[in-house]
Amino acid sequence: MILPITQYGNPVLRKKCKRVTEVTDEMRSLVDDMIATMEEAEGIGLAAPQVDRDLQLAIVDVSHDPECISYLRVDGEDAKIEDLMPLVFINPELKLGSEKESSTEGCLSIDGITAEVKRSREIIARLERLDGTKVTVETDGLLARAIQHETDHLNGILFTDRISTASKLSIRRKLKRLGS
Ligand code: NI
Repeated sequence: MILPITQYGNPVLRKKCKRVTEVTDEMRSLVDDMIATMEEAEGIGLAAPQVDRDLQLAIVDVSHDPECISYLRVDGEDAKIEDLMPLVFINPELKLGSEKESSTEGCLSIDGITAEVKRSREIIARLERLDGTKVTVETDGLLARAIQHETDHLNGILFTDRISTASKLSIRRKLKRLGS
């Protein structure tokens, strides 16, 4: 089922989402709906607050571009991007690399706005999966960026919070038109 995507100004997007302590059947079906919703919207990631759920749950899929990373390790072993996607995760904990890089981002909850966002080039992500196992994902490039963007959503942070002050001025006007 395709779900409505919450839009800028909706308070759920500003919540620090609740940790997931139990994966229910309802949550598994929510994940199926989130994947369908993300694909329909042609996004590469979607977080639970974007479908109006206060849960530390998100999905990422960058399999359209296997060249978007230079490495991927899952629990210390080299892995292929298509083996991990769509990546569904709960309760993420990220270790951010010190080197930053800028790239253009958008968000399905902030229609019509894109901006350059500086983020860590590399991450080590400790993620829980729906089956209760934990996985450590080390990567860079677009996958590292997408995991950071979605994890931000779970903490009530939007990419527009992270853009430079100079570009913020022009974007603030557009955001005003969208909502709060
Ligand atoms: Ni987003």
